[in-house]
Amino acid sequence: MATKSVLLIIGGGIAAYKSLELIRECAKRGIRTRAILTRAGAEFVTPLSVGSLTGEKCYTDLFDLTDEAEMGHIELSRAADLVVVAPATADLLSKPANGVAGDLASTALLATDKPVLFAPAMNVRMWAHPGVQRNVATLKEDGALFVGPNEGDMACGEYGAGRMAEPSEIADAVEAYFAASSDGRLKGRHVVVTAGPTHEPLDPVRYIANRSSGKQGYAIAAALAKLGARVTLVSGPTELPAPAGVDTVRVQTAREMMEATMSALPADAAICCAAVADYRPEIETNQKIKKERGGLSSIPLTENPDILRSISSLDVGRPGLVIGFAAETDDVLCNAEAKRKRKGCDWIIANDVSSGTGTMGGENNSVTVISEAGQESWENMPKARVADRLAAYIADALSKRAT
Ligand code: C5P
Repeated sequence: MATKSVLLIIGGGIAAYKSLELIRECAKRGIRTRAILTRAGAEFVTPLSVGSLTGEKCYTDLFDLTDEAEMGHIELSRAADLVVVAPATADLLSKPANGVAGDLASTALLATDKPVLFAPAMNVRMWAHPGVQRNVATLKEDGALFVGPNEGDMACGEYGAGRMAEPSEIADAVEAYFAASSDGRLKGRHVVVTAGPTHEPLDPVRYIANRSSGKQGYAIAAALAKLGARVTLVSGPTELPAPAGVDTVRVQTAREMMEATMSALPADAAICCAAVADYRPEIETNQKIKKERGGLSSIPLTENPDILRSISSLDVGRPGLVIGFAAETDDVLCNAEAKRKRKGCDWIIANDVSSGTGTMGGENNSVTVISEAGQESWENMPKARVADRLAAYIADALSKRAT
């Protein structure tokens, strides 16, 4: 499922050890890394540790005939979607700023046709030096991106600006770049999203509902719209405002949600995020049920239509990509995979809603994306980031199918 890749250039600074963690952070986000280690960088970390973490050969030498035969330095500099320099030493900043190339890293920096993200790391006085600041200004003018440096204690014992940004911050910057650069990727696509709970009335004042807040579904609708998709959001009752640029249809019951979703088709993708009530009261009375008149001792229920299964099993007009959610409390992945098969959808997003995880109604989500190809677990993150990443995956999947 993951397709984005980064060429990581590791320079010679003590922060090089953090670049090993950066490789892992990128992998967690589904981003592939290939690395170049400078001669000075190899004084701090070894090609073996870098290669083991990237799962790829670690490139070190411009004049290595075997490396050049396998992959030339020009191709290496262009194969990735983004070049990241971490740690970016004063030396590594000065070379591209002045059009100088003398080794594999600096040559790749001049030869690349991709944007470059620098994560500077150096002593506070070095960072403040006018020569370094001139180079940084030049690189920014040339379109380079920067993350950090941060202020704090330095390995050399001094305090100030010059600490390399943390690996998670650099990976966030990489991810943000990919999200921003993919704007418009869903232009011309129509996506239907269901979100929120449903309310199943018992009488004019009472209903059966669940704890779904709708936050994840609304965030997904917004993220898809950001990528240029035309989005129809079919929402059960929530407190949330309609996301900007999204056609929002508000409904109450599962049957209304089914009708609104089906009439929103055709679509390139359908994402069923709603916590649809599986059952509704068999009888809805027009008058409030009174305790004095015997009240209720039991509520006969009848099954609601299954929207996800209905869309997945459409013979004509099935969206190319149908995604369901599986909020589970136990044996999460096993139950979710069984649900994917039962419902007939392409992907299922599993999340653990056992007590204490705070997923339902909360701001964060821990999900695993399950498809025929396998499972991919994402770290716990804000629902908006789950949405951005999922939208990017949807854009990738749709781009591989015919329009
Ligand atoms: O409730 P359940 O665990 O079966 O939900 C799994 C998936 O099926 C979710 O994506 C949900 O939106 C969808 N669903 C549906 N219609 C139903 C029940 C569930 O679309 N009646």
